[in-house]
Amino acid sequence: MNSEKILRGLEKAGVATARRHLFLCIGPECCPVEEGERLWERVKDRVRQSGLEVLRTKAACFRICAGGPWLAVYPDGVWYGEVTPERFERIWAEHICADKPVQEWVGAASPLQGCGVPTVQSPST
Ligand code: FES
Repeated sequence: MNSEKILRGLEKAGVATARRHLFLCIGPECCPVEEGERLWERVKDRVRQSGLEVLRTKAACFRICAGGPWLAVYPDGVWYGEVTPERFERIWAEHICADKPVQEWVGAASPLQGCGVPTVQSPST
């Protein structure tokens, strides 16, 4: 493996400095893919425009498969269902920017507890 290339990729992705990671399921079972893609575009735009250290990942399926699109916010462990671009704007403003989850739209909340796995180190040069 080319560790220099990996390091560049990790830096480009912002892994070391990220405050949060957003995972979005865009369907096809929990919502129409077109609906999920439209929301994904909003998520990407908002993250890019903000300059905040927020990672975003488009997921194919969380195995919930109803009531989507689903947005999972980590490390908080907050899961929002039926997210629309308009709802995402409020989630962004209140949860991501002001650390206050939008309680009425939280479908599940489960911060991960870990299991004693040692801290992962970046590949050395
Ligand atoms: S398709 Fe979205 S949770 Fe399965």
